[in-house]
Amino acid sequence: MPLPTSFEGRLSLPAVAAPMFLVSGPEIVKETCKAGVVGTFPALNNRSTEGFDEWLTEIETDLAAWEKETGQLAAPYGVNLIVHGSNPRVQADLEIIVKHKTPLVITSLGAVAELVEAVHSYGGVVFHDVTNMRHARSAMRAKVDGLILVCNGAGGHAGTLNPFAFLPEVRAEFDGTILMAGCISDGRGIAGARAMGADLAYLGTRFINTAESNAPAEFKTMITEANAGDIVYTPAVSGVPGSFLRQSIEGAGLDPDNLPTKKEIDFGKELTPENQSHKAWKNVWSAGQGVGTIDDMPPVADLISRLKSEYEEAISGLTSRT
Ligand SMILES: Cc1cc2nc3c(=O)[nH]c(=O)nc-3n(C[C@H](O)[C@H](O)[C@H](O)COP(=O)(O)O)c2cc1C
Repeated sequence: MPLPTSFEGRLSLPAVAAPMFLVSGPEIVKETCKAGVVGTFPALNNRSTEGFDEWLTEIETDLAAWEKETGQLAAPYGVNLIVHGSNPRVQADLEIIVKHKTPLVITSLGAVAELVEAVHSYGGVVFHDVTNMRHARSAMRAKVDGLILVCNGAGGHAGTLNPFAFLPEVRAEFDGTILMAGCISDGRGIAGARAMGADLAYLGTRFINTAESNAPAEFKTMITEANAGDIVYTPAVSGVPGSFLRQSIEGAGLDPDNLPTKKEIDFGKELTPENQSHKAWKNVWSAGQGVGTIDDMPPVADLISRLKSEYEEAISGLTSRT
């Protein structure tokens, strides 16, 4: 079960802090990578391709200075590209990625062979989000390096498959990197994902509640108070089924049990931070079922240090019990 060679010697924990719309930016990425976990953000979190370019320069400059000062290696960083006809920035953002030789590109929605080739041309790797075997096979044909299995209960556009069922099916056909996503909020969960055969755990919701995340304070507080049962899985917010906090749906004046149907999918419009008029994701907040165990908002460095202790304890506890 391989990790890309570019990751070797750079990780202190087999984990990725997942890209999150309106939540992750350079601050969270820099601190995550310095703590030995892969840090990522969606390209669309910056309002323009020029601004995205500047963010990459900022991250690279900061990490290079930190490596020089400490003599340590930072974890690789990654960016998320929404590969969908309604995102007009895909090509321009890809050119910036190639210019910066971004180590990791996470693609969502479309797995495109030409994009994978462009990233491979400079030695980068591509991980692709999937929720079922059909999408996994299509990504395998596009020759992606890794598959992110977005399972039941995950934050964002979650899947419906149980990880115990989905992971072995993918592993039987794929010898690249497998990432497990959905409800992993502590080190024990990371150990569980590894025990099941995943190479890396992929954590989203847990990183919303960090000091460096751009989530509003009310969103973070709502997460500390919510439990798994508060997550509503609905296509009503963005046109694709996703996980949302019941309390935020109510806060936006909507009835979580009687939501309107939304048919249009337009990521160009949907996923644009300056699009103030559109309420989805801005007022109605996405989170996964892993909220139940989150009751704080620590700095990223403290969170990762705790995840590491929990991970090691979980593995040694399991070894001693068996
Ligand atoms: C608030 C929020 C925003 C998200 N935005 C994106 C996004 O822009 N692109 C993406 O690929 N995934 C996005 N996701 C999904 C995460 O990258 C990841 O797959 C998911 O959070 C993992 O499940 P977990 O939250 O249960 O840990 C988002 C998730 C959340 C909670």
